[in-house]
Amino acid sequence: MINVSGLTKYYGVNCAVDNLTFNAKKGEILGFLGPNGAGKTTTMRILTGYMPPTSGKASVGGFDVIDQSLEVRKLVGYLPETVPLYQDMRVFDYLKFMAELRHVSDVEEKVDIVLEQVGMVERSESFISKLSKGMRQRVGLAQALIHQPEVLILDEPTIGLDPAQIIEVRKLIQEIGKEKTVLLSTHILSEAQQVCDRVMIINKGHIVAEDTPEHLQTRMVGSRRVTVRIAGETTPAIAIINKIPGILSVKLTDNDAIQFENPTDKDLRPLVAKALIKARFDLLELSSESVNLEDIFLQLTREEPQALSPSEVKDEFLAEEPAGINKKIKKEGK
Ligand SMILES: Nc1ncnc2c1ncn2[C@@H]1O[C@H](COP(=O)(O)OP(=O)(O)O)[C@@H](O)[C@H]1O
Ligand SMILES: [Mg+2]
Repeated sequence: MINVSGLTKYYGVNCAVDNLTFNAKKGEILGFLGPNGAGKTTTMRILTGYMPPTSGKASVGGFDVIDQSLEVRKLVGYLPETVPLYQDMRVFDYLKFMAELRHVSDVEEKVDIVLEQVGMVERSESFISKLSKGMRQRVGLAQALIHQPEVLILDEPTIGLDPAQIIEVRKLIQEIGKEKTVLLSTHILSEAQQVCDRVMIINKGHIVAEDTPEHLQTRMVGSRRVTVRIAGETTPAIAIINKIPGILSVKLTDNDAIQFENPTDKDLRPLVAKALIKARFDLLELSSESVNLEDIFLQLTREEPQALSPSEVKDEFLAEEPAGINKKIKKEGK
């Protein structure tokens, strides 16, 4: 459903998205996991046809996001980082308005369907300004679903929510995601692991890893890559290194160095050195570097936000935004 190839975006001289290639299938929730500034939002804006890439191609459902952006917008539901909500509108009227913008037929019926989908039937007559953040996020999801799109692009859908709301919104996404293609961005590792079928890790505009949530768990343990150079035959040396407990994936590189991974928290180099010297190898190099992923994981939030106290929840629920905030709604086709 989503096909991206060599996607690149520069803001002036700064490269925000650098040669991204990936795809997402129907029925799949693909996670876009990366720290702030990684390029998640930029990629999503390009995919929704709101901004052209500098180079590269992207298509949704076979439609090119630049040349056929109107078709793409029909197929895609988009929950932006900050949802443009009219504070002084009631939930029902806002969704009706959004449906009309999208030229949806049987507007009121469609609004009822999405209200049901996001569990907001009882709040349909509430003013948006009186809703809690979690409720507003549901309204945001409802507007993304209003035209019953096949593809959902959700930009950090749980940001700013408290833990109970996070759990609800995640459940909702998983439910909706069963028959759709979902691309979801997050900077929370555990969120990507819980919600997604597959996770891409993006950092500084690059995809640095792509894996299932289960595999990510193992790769998350800050692995170190060790390079060994010896004079002479490498095959017997590899056999010796392979016998040392804790060492993984021993291999020969293109330029005749031996490399292995050490996922343990112990420096295994002294053991390797002793074993090789005992076997009368001349040791030329023994160096260790942390695998790239470790640094990126350090920047990702591993913990969920703290629960709000009861009084905070009440404030949050009754929160009224200062006038003027989020008053503008992006018109379709702009
Ligand atoms: N409108 C913009 N103009 C200039 N630079 C931008 C703009 N939007 C984002 N950037 C830069 O592009 C990079 C990627 O940003 P973004 O896509 O928002 O990342 P993320 O959503 O992963 O936090 C960052 O370095 C950010 O500062
Ligand atoms: Mg972002």
